[in-house]
Amino acid sequence: MNIVVVGTQWGDEGKGRVIDLLARKVDAVVRYQGGSNAGHTVVVNKEKFVFHLIPSGILHPGKKAIIANGVVVDPEQLLKEIGELQERGISMDNLYVSANSHVVMPYHKDVEKWEEALRGKSKIGTTGRGIGPAYADKAARRGIRMGDLLERETLKEKLSFNLKIYKSLLGITYSRKEILEKFLEYGEKLRKYITDTSLFIYNLMREGKDILFEGAQGTLLDIDHGTYPYVTSSNSAAVGVCAGCGISPRSISKIIGVAKAYTTRVGEGPFPTELKNEIGSLLQERGNEYGATTGRPRRCGWFDGVALRYATRVNGLDELILTKLDILDKLDKVKICVAYKFRGKIIQDFPNRFIMWRECEPIYEEMEGWKEDTSKVTSYKDLPVAARNYVKKIEQIGKVPIRLLSVGPQREEMFATP
Ligand code: IMP
Repeated sequence: MNIVVVGTQWGDEGKGRVIDLLARKVDAVVRYQGGSNAGHTVVVNKEKFVFHLIPSGILHPGKKAIIANGVVVDPEQLLKEIGELQERGISMDNLYVSANSHVVMPYHKDVEKWEEALRGKSKIGTTGRGIGPAYADKAARRGIRMGDLLERETLKEKLSFNLKIYKSLLGITYSRKEILEKFLEYGEKLRKYITDTSLFIYNLMREGKDILFEGAQGTLLDIDHGTYPYVTSSNSAAVGVCAGCGISPRSISKIIGVAKAYTTRVGEGPFPTELKNEIGSLLQERGNEYGATTGRPRRCGWFDGVALRYATRVNGLDELILTKLDILDKLDKVKICVAYKFRGKIIQDFPNRFIMWRECEPIYEEMEGWKEDTSKVTSYKDLPVAARNYVKKIEQIGKVPIRLLSVGPQREEMFATP
C-alpha cells in the first residue's frame, strides 16, 4: 500500500503526528517537496521532536526515511538535524537523500531577504529558508543538486555561473573558494546518504513494501493550486508526489488529508475566515499556534469548509484526519464556513483568483459549542454530542469521510470514528 498524507489547509495541520502514527504500519516514509521551511512536530512520551527535513518516520527503528528529488535540501540544516537526532539516540542508518534533490545555497537566502524587502507591504512572509529561490534556480536550469556536492569540478563550474548571476542581481561578490570548499565538505559528510531515491523507492515497491509519502505545507500553499502568489514554491498538494519522487501515478493506493478543527495561516496572504478578535486569540493561545520553524504567531480563524471541499477535489482525498478538536472546547458557539459571498453572489467553490480570495466574505453555519473538556476522551462515542455534530458537519461540507480524530499531541490521543 502506498499512502500519501497531505495538508488540506495552509500547513500546520498536524501532519507530523499523523505520519508518526501511520509510519508504524509502513516500511518507508518519503518527503517529496519543500525543504527546511517545514516544521513537523511529534511528541513521544512527552519528548518533543521537530523535523524540518528528515521524515519523521525516522523515529521508528528499521523504517527507511527518504528525502526525494522534489525536496530542496539545506545541507547545513540537514547535518544539524542528523547530529541532533543522533545525540538523542536515533539511528541514521536508514536515511536516504536523493542525488537529484536541489541544494539551498547561501545566496538563495540573501536574494529572498532582498526580494521580500523590495516587496514591502506586499511581502509573502516567507520562512526565510531560501526555498523559493532554490526552486527558481531549479526551474531556470542552473540549480545545484545534492549529487553535485560529490564532484569538485561540476560543483565549481555550476557555482561559478551562479555567483555571476547573483553578483549582478545583488551586487554581492561571494567567495567561490569558500563556498566550494564548504559545500564539498557537506557533500563528503552526506555522501553515505546520497543515492538514486527514485530507483530505491521503485525497488521497495517491487518488493511489496508499504510506503508513506509525507507532504509538507498544505494544499492552499501549493505553487499551482494554492492562493498564489502567497504560496510556497513547490507542489505541496498530492500532485507533487509523482514528480517529487520519480514514481508513477499508478502506484499510489490511498490519499489521506489532514485538517485542523479550525484554520491557521503563517505569513501573509488571503484568509477569508480569519478572526482578528478574542476568539482568534483564544485559538492561538489554546492551540499554541506559533510556527515550528520561525516561531511566528499563526493567524487563526474558523474552519473553512469551502477550502476543505477544494482540497478533497484537488487531491482526490479518500479520507480525512481531523486534529486539535480539543482546542475548541471552551467556545459557546462554533462556526463553519459553508460558502462565500463575492460582490453579492454566493459561491460554493473555492475561488481561483486573487481578488476573490481577498474580497470574498465567508458564509457561516453556526453550531452550539460543547463546552466540555475533550482532551481526555479516548473514543468517538464519548465525545459530547455537539462535538460529534461539528465533526459530522465538516464531513458533509468537505465531502470527505473523517476516519481519525485527535484531541491532544501525544501519540495515543487519537481515535477512530465509527
Ligand atoms: P516559503 O515556503 O518559506 O517560501 O514561504 C512561503 C509561504 O509558505 C509563507 O506564507 C510561509 O509562512 C508558508 N509556509 C512555508 N512552510 C510552511 C509550513 O511548514 N507551515 C506553514 N506555512 C508554511
